[in-house]
Amino acid sequence: MTEVEGILATAAALLAGATTVEEVQAAATELLGKKSALTAAHRGLAGLDPDGRREVGRELQEAKARIEELIGARRSALEAVERAARLDRDRLDLTEARGKRGPGHLHLVQRTRDELEDVFVGMGFVVAEGPEVETDWYNFEALNIPPAHPARGMWDTLYLEFGDPETILLRTHTSPVQIRVMEGQAPPIYAVMPGRCYRRDTPDARHIPIFHQIEGLVIDRGISFAELAGTIEAFTTSYFGPDIHSRLRPAFFPFTEPSAEFEITCTICKGSGCRTCSQTGWIELGGCGMVDPAVLDAVGLDAEEWSGFAFGFGIDRCAQMRHEIPDMRILLENDVRFLRQL
Ligand code: DAH
Repeated sequence: MTEVEGILATAAALLAGATTVEEVQAAATELLGKKSALTAAHRGLAGLDPDGRREVGRELQEAKARIEELIGARRSALEAVERAARLDRDRLDLTEARGKRGPGHLHLVQRTRDELEDVFVGMGFVVAEGPEVETDWYNFEALNIPPAHPARGMWDTLYLEFGDPETILLRTHTSPVQIRVMEGQAPPIYAVMPGRCYRRDTPDARHIPIFHQIEGLVIDRGISFAELAGTIEAFTTSYFGPDIHSRLRPAFFPFTEPSAEFEITCTICKGSGCRTCSQTGWIELGGCGMVDPAVLDAVGLDAEEWSGFAFGFGIDRCAQMRHEIPDMRILLENDVRFLRQL
């Protein structure tokens, strides 16, 4: 075996023994570095005659190229092995979760919203939406609640630090969408407007600071309070069932005149009186009334020609009443033990 063949055989054996990329690197230094047999043989060229130097020099060049090839091949092979091992290590096994949990489903609030929409769509209403970040004008002023009006105290408002102070806010109710709908289309209008609302409420069993309302708006010719009462009753029986009815009680809202609160038969005691309804047999669900001419004015509708009614109530409250949920805070907590039941 010539010296060069010996060098190549050693190189092949050394590289075959390397089992990691780092070991290949160490072998490369040993095979090609200053202290390597190859470098020593190069040094030995000085003692040869010119022909011998040319001959052996070429052999050494070829040997070096061959060793570099071997190093490269071994390195790529080991890199592939290491990548495969890393992928295997980092893999997340989701099969167990899938088997145990089953498919997900919509949150109760979303489902309630869908069901309420269905009830109103069945009555001929269309569904509209508006933004959760509103201006003071849509949330208050166009609804006949001027700046500094005491009625603004009814909604503890979360303002955004944007533009002039107290001009941009998180909507406190879905009523501003009434204004947007009236701006966007000419009457007749039969629309419901569901969505998320925000108030600076301290959470308790009956209040959560992020909640959902559904607003209703009808604008047409010759609409009277009777249509309002009939619509509320039709909605109540079709969503809550034939045993549950509605009643209206005089109230005040700046954007409707006359205004009313609407109540439904207590779903817990079916009207006989219990703790939830404070022994009255009735539970308040929302507000309603005949659209105030000042609101029609704000959107440029002629109050002589058009009239209508509006209502608004809590979607979360509906879910609470229908499913007898004692504490509303659970709707925000995402506790799987609760979510799984419904
Ligand atoms: N926006 C009112 C609230 O959040 C509820 C309401 C009352 C809506 C009367 C209406 C209405 O459309 O006519 O308390």
